[in-house]
Amino acid sequence: MASEPVNVNEFQELARQALPKMYYDFYTGGAEDQHTLKENVAAFRRIMLRPRVLVDVSRIDMSTTILGYNISAPIMIAPTAMHQLAHPEGEVATARAAAACNTIMILSNMSTCTVEEVASSCNAVRFFQLYVLKRRDISAQIVHRVEKNGYKAIVLTVDTPRLGRREADIKNRMVAPQLRNFEGLLSTEVDTDKGSNLEALIKGIYDTSLSWEDIGWLKSITNLPILIKGVLTHENARKAVEVGVAGIVVSNHGARQLDYTPATISVLEEVVHAVGGRVPVLFDGGVRRGTDVFKALALGAQAVLVGRPVVYGLAANGERGVRRVIEMLKDEFELTMALSGCPSVKDITRSHVTTTEFDKP
Ligand code: FNR
Repeated sequence: MASEPVNVNEFQELARQALPKMYYDFYTGGAEDQHTLKENVAAFRRIMLRPRVLVDVSRIDMSTTILGYNISAPIMIAPTAMHQLAHPEGEVATARAAAACNTIMILSNMSTCTVEEVASSCNAVRFFQLYVLKRRDISAQIVHRVEKNGYKAIVLTVDTPRLGRREADIKNRMVAPQLRNFEGLLSTEVDTDKGSNLEALIKGIYDTSLSWEDIGWLKSITNLPILIKGVLTHENARKAVEVGVAGIVVSNHGARQLDYTPATISVLEEVVHAVGGRVPVLFDGGVRRGTDVFKALALGAQAVLVGRPVVYGLAANGERGVRRVIEMLKDEFELTMALSGCPSVKDITRSHVTTTEFDKP
């Protein structure tokens, strides 16, 4: 691409040019037919905006508070695995970009830089995403390191007892490197000549017996607030509140786990109603425009997380690329707020969107 990207979608092509096919396919792909992958984006396009005019929008305040931490806009960085496959500086570059944009990065348990390296690279507010391993003692050690290194919350991902079937990774025989957080604790290098090495790795190490009762175990080993990521139904949202989580992330894992789950934006409101304001609801899946951020907030999310576009920015241009992606989304969101007559995020309400094209509010 000769010219500078003008929106975050254009970073995808730059990433494709920058990356070996195996890694590009890993970042971009979804599960099986990739139906949900398309739907996550397409469903946003079916939501229309209901702007209000003649509102003083000479000052727009995008800032918001997540678990008591002030961020510049309700746009956070989703946990995504193995950033060094996209850029040699890996998660350190992503964390610095998050700090520069004054937002929160959620570091993946499957990162290629350690919890300590990321912590010492910037002093932004950071959360940590956890997968619970069969070796609970190792998960507990990692949680203690996370706490010691000043991460402010644990985001427990609950939609991955096993890895979804990602056919590009199977074809490419996707190879996972040694994941640094596990160094000296367990080997993450799996050698199989059948399909995706990542799938084989996860089959070997994740705890498939994890259940609601185990939230109690996690609470017993940490004082950090626990958010649960991967909720798609009102039943599970109520259950999550019952067991005492500090927040919920509505997510289908960027359509990489169970195909034919609904687009996340189409179930956000169901979860928000079930939660009834008792804990914050965050959202991810398919956010590519400032209007998408606005729509998610109108349907009750407190903030959105961005997955693939961040990795594309990283692949294209390291820390600067990630910064550009977040800035672009922020700029578009600010413009959307101005053109919708919402000077602050609390002014964005359900009545600013319509979910069927011609419905009456
Ligand atoms: C992910 N996601 C993810 N989630 C998680 O809890 N732990 C992880 O390690 C990863 N790894 C990961 C890698 C890659 C390459 C992608 C694309 C996604 C899911 C991620 O947190 C988020 O739910 C989705 O990426 C959101 O969808 P979009 O923004 O990618 O459409």
